[in-house]
Amino acid sequence: MTVVRHFLSLNDLSAAELWQVIDRAIEMKAAVKRGQFDEALKNRTLAMIFEKSSTRTRVSFETGMTQMGGHALFLSPESTQLGRGEPVEDSARVISRMVDVVMIRTFEQSMVERFAEYSRVPVINALTDQFHPCQLLADMMTWVEQRGRPEGKTVVWVGDGNNMCHSWMNAARLFGFHLNAACPEGYDPDPEVMALNKDNVTLFRDPAEAAKAADVVTTDTWASMGQEDEKQARMQAFDGYQVTEAMMQLADKDALFMHCLPAYRGMEVAADVIDGPQSVVWDEAENRLHAQKALVEALVIGFGAHKPEQLA
Ligand code: CP
Ligand code: NVA
Repeated sequence: MTVVRHFLSLNDLSAAELWQVIDRAIEMKAAVKRGQFDEALKNRTLAMIFEKSSTRTRVSFETGMTQMGGHALFLSPESTQLGRGEPVEDSARVISRMVDVVMIRTFEQSMVERFAEYSRVPVINALTDQFHPCQLLADMMTWVEQRGRPEGKTVVWVGDGNNMCHSWMNAARLFGFHLNAACPEGYDPDPEVMALNKDNVTLFRDPAEAAKAADVVTTDTWASMGQEDEKQARMQAFDGYQVTEAMMQLADKDALFMHCLPAYRGMEVAADVIDGPQSVVWDEAENRLHAQKALVEALVIGFGAHKPEQLA
């Protein structure tokens, strides 16, 4: 019996498998730039379940399936029985009998775990309150393209100990770098994620101290999807945690600025940083497409299963 592989967090893949996905993504990106597409996923369907908004994730997964000769289905709670209370377990059994791979963006990590438990096909976490692993594939790919491999380097995370922060922590362990997380009191990362990655993560209160000599400076919105009611309180709590040009000066002179987007200029990042020369945010966004194509190919067809000559 073939074992179904899921991608509910970065921890579902070994470091070697993660590198295979990134190397393949770089190869696929070059092929697209040459105008070459293979049809590795011809007649295959990706179901995309979105319980939260998205620009990048939807456009990248849907376009990726088209480029690989397959099809993507957009499913929202409003348009499916999921929104009318059909159990996740039943939805998983039904949907996974028809499609080849499922992508889910939702609130609770337990929802994607329950879906995966009852699914016959691979399930991909396209953002939960706990993790955003697809973004980290694109971010690692961008880092490699810009500066080479990340082993032994330092990243500073400035702001909320949220889903992106958790995925950066997992990435630190799996890709072999160190993460300095500067979070205000009350907004620390999940202690379980901290404990798992304790050898690769240091918690700071002072972002200036955390940013010293960092190779990558990264941040995210102060109020994630689902936290709209907390916006005012969060703006106060995160005062002093904006990534500014002065903070970038403390990092390495060749440091990159990264942000998963959407960004709020004047809040978590100053406009001159995100729009400045050290920012690679548009490459990160584009690389969602290439990295997820490589991920879907690996999960559906197999890791390392492609043959370079398949590229027509
Ligand atoms: N970074 C990211 O996941 O963007 P979207 O919310 O637009 O999908
Ligand atoms: N932390 C943000 C990331 C958006 C891509 C959120 O969950 O809303």
